[in-house]
Amino acid sequence: MSLSQLARSINESPTLKLNETAALLKDKGEPVIHLGGGEPKSKAPIDAIVSCTALLRTGDVKYTPADGIPALKKAIIRYTEEHYDRLVPPENVIASSGAKQSLMVLLHAILDPQEEVVYPAPYWVSYPEMVKIAGGAPIAVTAADGGFQPTVDEMAQAMGPYTKAVILNSPNNPSGVVYSDEFVAGVMELCERRNLYLIMDDTYNRLIFDGRTPTNCYRFSKDLTIDSSKLVVINCVSKMYAMTGFRIGWTIGAKDLIRAMTNIQSQETSGPAAPSQWAAVGALTGVQSSIESLRLTLENNRNIMMTRLEAFNGVKTVKPGGTFYCFPDFSAYEKDSQKLSRFLLDKVRVVTVPGKEFGMDGHLRLSYCGTPKEVTEGIERIKWALDPTAPNELYLGNRKIVRDWQ
Ligand SMILES: Cc1ncc(COP(=O)(O)O)c(C=O)c1O
Repeated sequence: MSLSQLARSINESPTLKLNETAALLKDKGEPVIHLGGGEPKSKAPIDAIVSCTALLRTGDVKYTPADGIPALKKAIIRYTEEHYDRLVPPENVIASSGAKQSLMVLLHAILDPQEEVVYPAPYWVSYPEMVKIAGGAPIAVTAADGGFQPTVDEMAQAMGPYTKAVILNSPNNPSGVVYSDEFVAGVMELCERRNLYLIMDDTYNRLIFDGRTPTNCYRFSKDLTIDSSKLVVINCVSKMYAMTGFRIGWTIGAKDLIRAMTNIQSQETSGPAAPSQWAAVGALTGVQSSIESLRLTLENNRNIMMTRLEAFNGVKTVKPGGTFYCFPDFSAYEKDSQKLSRFLLDKVRVVTVPGKEFGMDGHLRLSYCGTPKEVTEGIERIKWALDPTAPNELYLGNRKIVRDWQ
């Protein structure tokens, strides 16, 4: 078959593939524990469901404006005022079909061929592929100290004449690290000095632990007016409101940029699905307690996972400050994270995501968005599989596994 160069250069999303594999194994009755997941288990807020079904009941489900219905834009404006202390006009807002589409349309709007987008490693798996789809060149910056946050100098050294934008995702998928204020402020200063776009991917902004306050990137910007600024902020209802399936994300940026994004989106997909937009209106304007209850559940799960991992000889961990992921270093057991991930799925039916996909081999991304029981049992199975001194047999449900490896 003749496919484009682009199609041949783009890899499948490894996390979505793992979800499929896990679902297939579960369908076959396999006792799978999914520590690879990227979505909270909780239900969508009731206000989202009520608002969505109110539209569905009318049967009048039609195209919407390409940049989103006015009610959603109004709700996004309110959210931005409340959580970022910024009052933005509707012309500075575009709603899209998930933060994924927000990022994709944004990259199409700003990148010329081969222009570079710089971001720290570890990074969300989709950044390199998205930048490539938009014709750009992805540049990951790895901290020399082996940590999860490079220095501002290391970011600066990765930039050159073709650099167009920087992406920061904090709290970070996959490490769970919340970048320090100094780092965000330093990267902002760098971008403003070099006239680069700074894309803040705030998908997990409020899912943070240990009494932290969510980072408000606008605090660090010297550009006083939104229309003169190249700071672009992406958000979505997917994780914070547990609404991954609704596919609603949004972008706040300069008016000219938002207009360009709207033109692209109007040709690509038109506005996001109307029922989903109304669901997002319900979530954003309704009772907000579901976020705090999800945050508390995740913090508790994070603590359970950390306690288990800390008792794991040879595994190096960094305590996540947010999200529902952590990114332990298993290289003392196996440096090839794809091999290790496959081994754990084959032998003890635990799904993990190889660190290589996030730009750091030797690590595994483990999610704690499941139940405490899943988190506990998942880590216990991994430990059993990797510890040669563990008893020779393990029960997965009522199935006995006998070690046939060293
Ligand atoms: C860092 C990051 N950005 C963006 C997204 C995309 O979110 P959405 O489901 O709204 O497209 C994800 C989803 O996993 C993510 O982890």
